[in-house]
Amino acid sequence: MRRTIPTLAIVATVTVSVAFAASHAETPREVKARQGLMNIISINFGTIGDMVRGKDDYDAATAQAAADSLVGVGMIQHDNLWPEPTLGIDGSRALTEIGEDRAGFLAIWDRFDTAAAGLQAVAGGGIEGLGGAVGELGQVCKACHDDYRLTR
Ligand code: HEC
Repeated sequence: MRRTIPTLAIVATVTVSVAFAASHAETPREVKARQGLMNIISINFGTIGDMVRGKDDYDAATAQAAADSLVGVGMIQHDNLWPEPTLGIDGSRALTEIGEDRAGFLAIWDRFDTAAAGLQAVAGGGIEGLGGAVGELGQVCKACHDDYRLTR
């Protein structure tokens, strides 16, 4: 009896790690890539948003680097990160509407580029210009999430 308990514990541990590995193997790399891309957007947008809200002090170089990164993300090709078989699947909140209305989805990325460029132009020039530009970019996030992302 004394040997049974550790054996069961080992079996349980192995089972959990296999299940974990399997769930990771099933996540298509496009899903991982675009979720990572969204997190890069979110981190940089958050850096500037925290300055606008007064949570962090304004720092021109930090704001500029964050805005530059947002513009950089916009330059990554978006079409190939959202292939049809990876839409509406477990582990992703991307809706099938992205495939059905590819032009509309890509048009929002164009809006993202315009808003990110607007933010890039003012980011290093003082806190005054930041609020409006952040607000405009935030509208673009919301527009896309409203139409193309599963609400949970
Ligand atoms: C053109 C459409 C579009 C734009 C623009 C967009 N998003 Fe997203 N975002 C999505 C979609 C679709 C998902 C779901 C992706 C998935 O799960 O496959 C998502 C997911 C996310 C996630 C969750 C990532 C994860 O770990 O699962 C965050 C955070 C996020 N977006 C933040 C933002 C912010 C902040 C902005 C604006 C500065 C923004 N997004 C702009 C479409 C967009």
